[in-house]
Amino acid sequence: MEIKDPRNHFSKENGALSGEKTSKTIRKLKDMKGFYEDEEAFNKMDPETVLYEVEMHAPVKAGTEGGLFFGTSFLNPGKVGEEFFMTKGHFHEIINRAEYYWGLEGEGVLVFMDEDGNASAEKVCPGSLHFVPGKIAHRLVNTGDTKLAVGACWPADAGHQYGPIAESGFGVRIKEKNGTIIAE
Ligand code: 6PG
Ligand code: NI
Repeated sequence: MEIKDPRNHFSKENGALSGEKTSKTIRKLKDMKGFYEDEEAFNKMDPETVLYEVEMHAPVKAGTEGGLFFGTSFLNPGKVGEEFFMTKGHFHEIINRAEYYWGLEGEGVLVFMDEDGNASAEKVCPGSLHFVPGKIAHRLVNTGDTKLAVGACWPADAGHQYGPIAESGFGVRIKEKNGTIIAE
């Protein structure tokens, strides 16, 4: 039997993916209208600003029960007003689906929220490991001056539910005030 070479690669420095069945999603400022508190600051910025990119390896079709997806999220450093660049954040569509995140490069915060709106947050750094239980919304925030790269693995049938977050947020925002990173 031939022992094959790996068909996919995962950079051990920053998690960049290459090989077959990989794809990339880009999110720009214009995709996140209403997500940031400071609308005036938001409107003054270039809507084409790239906030984050998600590279994903999908060996099975979305919705496959028992399948897994693997991805790396790259968040650029920056702020809208006092609020750091962040992902949209979501509950999974099949809400009980859990997920792992792990820090690869840069400094950030992972914000959680349960279905009753109770929020909590964990620091993300190279080597940090985060379990996102089912029924918990999750959002990544880049609190550093460099790119934040975070790996993730989640069930292929999890899906995304962005509606509740677009409407009411996480109840907490990660900001810089007087040189300090705060959650308020
Ligand atoms: C997922 C993961 C992760 C996430 C990205 C982008 O369930 O797919 O949590 O890959 O999608 O970090 O975040 P948003 O999907 O919230 O924009
Ligand atoms: Ni998720």
